[in-house]
Amino acid sequence: MRSYIEQADFFKGNDPEKIAEEFGTPLYVYNEDIIRDRMRRVANVITKYPYRANYSCKTNTNLDILKIALSVGVNADAMSEGEMRMLLKAGFPPERIFYVCNNVSADEMRFAIDNGIPISLDSLDQLRLFGEINRGGRCAVRINPGVGAGHHEKVVTAGKKTKFGIAEEDIDKIFDIAAEHDLKIVGINQHVGSQFLDATPFLAAVDNLLRIAMKFGDLEFIDFGGGYGIPYHKLDDEKEFDMEHFSKEFTEKLDRFIPQYGSAPLFKSEPGRYCVAEGGVILGRVHSIKQNSGIKYIGTDVGMNVLVRPSMYDSWHDIEVISNGHVVYRDKDELEKVTVCGNICESGDVLCKDREMPKIADNDLICVLDAGAYGYSMCSSYNTRLRPAEVMICSDGSVKLIRRRETFEDMFAFY
Ligand SMILES: Cc1ncc(COP(=O)(O)O)c(C=O)c1O
Repeated sequence: MRSYIEQADFFKGNDPEKIAEEFGTPLYVYNEDIIRDRMRRVANVITKYPYRANYSCKTNTNLDILKIALSVGVNADAMSEGEMRMLLKAGFPPERIFYVCNNVSADEMRFAIDNGIPISLDSLDQLRLFGEINRGGRCAVRINPGVGAGHHEKVVTAGKKTKFGIAEEDIDKIFDIAAEHDLKIVGINQHVGSQFLDATPFLAAVDNLLRIAMKFGDLEFIDFGGGYGIPYHKLDDEKEFDMEHFSKEFTEKLDRFIPQYGSAPLFKSEPGRYCVAEGGVILGRVHSIKQNSGIKYIGTDVGMNVLVRPSMYDSWHDIEVISNGHVVYRDKDELEKVTVCGNICESGDVLCKDREMPKIADNDLICVLDAGAYGYSMCSSYNTRLRPAEVMICSDGSVKLIRRRETFEDMFAFY
């Protein structure tokens, strides 16, 4: 692909240079149409049986994006009180939120209980605590199905070496604790990992959870987790996740399960990245270019405080170059190897190493692709830098500020 931002008409005719000048850099820019499209796709994965996609909002809790999820008709997952509060503020009714917590205090659990938000417990201890503060309550349990998968060790969220879920061999203990506190186990959930471009590991995990579900009678829902991947190497024509094939295979598994189980509970999944990653980019400014021991460093304002994925997970993000408002194409004879880095005082503050890029000049813009998921939601004020602003390219082509840049007054407000 020559240019994603041109092919997708990401800026909808707006000049990215003008947007960068008006709102400053670094800047998160989202495209409403792309986000709506991906949310609609996940909402329709299963159409034959009762099914709900839960947008996993850890990926991006911007209120405008949550409102898109709400309007498309997907539900949402929350991992914390903060995420529950954001979802409520965006207008989600409590019953459309699912609190999938991990090692939380009684107070945080109580927030969910008091607000009528369905909850899943992730350990026997947490189930016991829930029973103690909410005798007779309803809840789900997160199962660790014993196998995980994912693009990086740090995003594998099931299997013998992760902190998540209750092991299958402890299922009898779930029933004991439930009986002791008069709890009703209404659902089971899992999340095995992230960024599957090939559906095989997810589908294997579906089989596994359906097998485990047979040990629970009378479930109201079974939630298979998230993890659908997106093509981070799209400039090299990486193929996208084949939703059609996935839906077909997923449905066939349910076709076989329902007669055995005797009923069709509500089936759910929890995609996060797939919904928003491709609908977000970061615009950053090049402030310095230098050679150190034969390596050419492109110094920008997109530090690891703005996007931590490359330094945390060694993640790849395609980067396009914009000079005077125009994309500089990656023509083979014009490429040069460079290392693009940020402005944070860490040698790991690198967006990409030794990557072949088109010629870049001081003051050019870089456009970091696929940054809508785990971008702003993981950004920090490290080095006491201000968190960036976020703007939306709306369906009608207008550019809307959807979260202002942090200010130094915001920083001082904690004191
Ligand atoms: C419990 C749970 N559900 C859903 C997700 C969303 O995963 P993804 O963004 O890969 O779809 C995660 C991510 O780690 C998770 O931990």
